[in-house]
Amino acid sequence: MDKVVALTKRRGFIYPSSEIYGGLSGFYDYGPYGVALKRAIRDLWWRHVVELRDDVVGLESTLIMPSEVWAASGHLTNFVDPLRQCTGRCKKRWRADTVKGDKCPECGSEVYLRPETAQGMFVDFKNVINSTRVRVPFGIAQQGRAFRNEITPGNFVFRVREFELMELEYFVKPNEDDGWFDYWRKERMRWYTDVLGVNASRLRQYDHPKASLSHYSKQTTDIEYEFPFGWGELEGIADRTDFDLRVHQEASKTDLTYLDPETNDRYLPWVIEPAVSVDRIFVTLLIDAYDEDVVNEESRVVLRLHPNVAPVQVAIVPLSKKEDLIKVARDVRSSLQGEFRVEYDQTGGHIGRRYRRQDEIGTPFCITVDFETLNDRAVTIRKRDTTEQERVAIAGLTERLTALVAG
Ligand code: GAP
Repeated sequence: MDKVVALTKRRGFIYPSSEIYGGLSGFYDYGPYGVALKRAIRDLWWRHVVELRDDVVGLESTLIMPSEVWAASGHLTNFVDPLRQCTGRCKKRWRADTVKGDKCPECGSEVYLRPETAQGMFVDFKNVINSTRVRVPFGIAQQGRAFRNEITPGNFVFRVREFELMELEYFVKPNEDDGWFDYWRKERMRWYTDVLGVNASRLRQYDHPKASLSHYSKQTTDIEYEFPFGWGELEGIADRTDFDLRVHQEASKTDLTYLDPETNDRYLPWVIEPAVSVDRIFVTLLIDAYDEDVVNEESRVVLRLHPNVAPVQVAIVPLSKKEDLIKVARDVRSSLQGEFRVEYDQTGGHIGRRYRRQDEIGTPFCITVDFETLNDRAVTIRKRDTTEQERVAIAGLTERLTALVAG
């Protein structure tokens, strides 16, 4: 873990928040490569949970919601970690359990920073069924910031106080929850191994015993990863029954039932919810990918990230700063930039050193533009994991890299 933390700082994945003022416990900033990795995680989740399916729609609800939502959902009575933010003049944030009553101690407003994105999807349930053509079974998906007053933040970004949740609320017929619960457990596991390339032997499923279930859950399975500090929750998949729609229906006095157009049955759908944070996937991927090996009698650090998530998928390294060579290298860069996450490294240092740097940030492919390129209009693809080299015509480079990135 210490090695991963040092690497992420050294290479600009993560910085402690407000570090020049001594940092802020439980808060981190994401640097240039960290942002690229985060965006890749977020985009792949959206792609596989929303875009590649025709039964899930997206939503973006607000981060700040009224206290009635959290009173109805049971968060105020069952959890002690919500944070509240004043929406009035002062904008101060408060630990919810230190504020008496509903008003901001400073200026009297009544709102909460959300500890989960889920409630936005329940509160908007009626809007979504009235404005789209979704039919049960269907899902609403949301990605966005969540805030918790974690008493013990730690293990890097495993547990932080401000993080980015990705949640799917999948609405099903009341007696069909068990089947869908199994479906989503398998589907989510498959996403980690096949799309993100996480080592299957370091993943397992943990079924919560009744006593440790959240107040809204009938059954919960965690997808766990074997972290350096032990097995820990990566993602939770919960069967939330009709708990949330029911409590919001009661508290808001709004009918939230669904009318089945085929059977004319009216009911509150049950909900299967896979929920995970980008931050926790981030730390998982870095730990899973970190490796040290020896190449040509030199030891190296290498992040064996799947090409799908690598912050830089293709690095272009011209062998020298000679003008005609640089020109070709820049043309290659332009032709690849729209297709891949590309970095151009013209620093001119020893080529081996430039490869080592790309190995450390997990770049799966380096394109070397050398003197021969000027004659044969071809470049070398150097592969991170094996350090093998392959000569490819510039004309066929995009196609070859597309195949390599797809694995
Ligand atoms: N809506 C359900 C829910 O929020 P949760 O188990 O409290 O369930 C879901 O959180 C996921 O969010 C966890 O599996 C984990 O991936 C992530 N998560 C929770 N607390 C976190 C924290 N303090 N820092 C980073 N990620 C967190």
